[in-house]
Amino acid sequence: MNVLILGAGGREHALAWKIKQSASLHNLFVAPGNAGTAAIAKNIPIGVNDFRAIKDVVLGENIQLLVVGPEDPLVNGVHDFFLQDAALAHIPVIGPQKAAAALEGSKEFAKRFMLRHNIPTAKYESFTKNTLEEGHAFLETMQPPYVLKADGLAAGKGVVILRTLQEAKQELTAMLRDAKFGAASGTVVIEEFLDGIELSVFVLTDGEHYKVLPTAKDYKRIGEGDTGLNTGGMGAISPVPFAGAQFMEKTEEQVVKPTIQGLKKDGLPYKGFIFIGLIKVKDAPKVIEYNVRLGDPETEVVLPRIENDLLEVFQAVASVKLNEIKLSVSEKSAATVMAVSGGYPGSYEKGKVVHGLNEVRASHVFQAGTTSNKDGEVVTNGGRVLAVTSFGADFKEALAHSYRELGKISFEGMHYRKDLGFDL
Ligand code: AMP
Ligand code: GLY
Repeated sequence: MNVLILGAGGREHALAWKIKQSASLHNLFVAPGNAGTAAIAKNIPIGVNDFRAIKDVVLGENIQLLVVGPEDPLVNGVHDFFLQDAALAHIPVIGPQKAAAALEGSKEFAKRFMLRHNIPTAKYESFTKNTLEEGHAFLETMQPPYVLKADGLAAGKGVVILRTLQEAKQELTAMLRDAKFGAASGTVVIEEFLDGIELSVFVLTDGEHYKVLPTAKDYKRIGEGDTGLNTGGMGAISPVPFAGAQFMEKTEEQVVKPTIQGLKKDGLPYKGFIFIGLIKVKDAPKVIEYNVRLGDPETEVVLPRIENDLLEVFQAVASVKLNEIKLSVSEKSAATVMAVSGGYPGSYEKGKVVHGLNEVRASHVFQAGTTSNKDGEVVTNGGRVLAVTSFGADFKEALAHSYRELGKISFEGMHYRKDLGFDL
């Protein structure tokens, strides 16, 4: 089978690495990919939202499966584009259609979905420019801290948590009246602050059946002790020690099942990954967000623990036979540590040569923001540069391996968090 993966991050390198091991793979393509995917697949220099160019590649290379990494093309309707094109309609796409991708594309849509299907989440109200005054009045009824969320996609920056009522009112005004996040904050969701510990649960569905994949926890803040600005993710571990069998049973009953049934009831076609962002409040799972894709860097710890042939699993999704697959998950823990460019998540320089990649033995390096220079060297090309994944008997041992191997890698300005797992 010929496969095309859309995306360019560590998640996509991990997907390519896993698919590369599949018995039924013939040729593997990644668009646009990075230096890591170039080493195991053919990179195609086109954008993930350039559907016409994607069509040309799919027809030209006889692609038989499209795997969509990031949310953007899904929210923009790449799956619908395939279904509506006579030449592409028979090619399976892993990733939901546009209507269901709104679970990530619109926070308000996601909240209404949860409410309708009785899925536990924070209480909320949503407001627009025309209801700004009501928004301020609503804030006055809430307890601090205040959680404000831009409705649309805002590159992970659209959630703001504020300590004081005055700051919250100012922020609401900035979002609604001054369009702080552009169109994305045309509507703002204000919700109850959930006090607990966060984790990510991944579910793969064919629209009828589902598999709950290994749990993961990522570390979003740039600074040690979870301080400083939010990033795309500075590392992750899997499984999550505080998500035991009982908690996961509760999560499956209260969250996963109603989500899959809700998609069916609402006529939202879904073949792909659902990323459920949860906060464990005492012993109860509460949903903070849905994403319609795998997480990054969670993928770099979740996929290595899955022992199945991934293309076999994807084919079962395509043919709505996921119930026939038995998921096999490694007992070992996995951990990944992300190395980022100096200055990230603020401004940073690119083009720094990455040294030591060939010295790494006991870990696997998934590349993210990398490319090759004219001498064929791997150089930095983004904020998050590479993720070093290791296995261990527990997350501590896995992390120790990653830190040791990461010591062999260097590039100018390289930074990584040395305290992952500190909260567990
Ligand atoms: P999101 O973009 O929805 O993932 O939100 C970003 C981060 O804000 C989450 O990872 C949480 O840490 C935090 N967050 C979002 N909603 C809430 C909430 N209701 N209570 C507490 N923290 C939240
Ligand atoms: N690691 C969080 C995300 O992928 O959104």
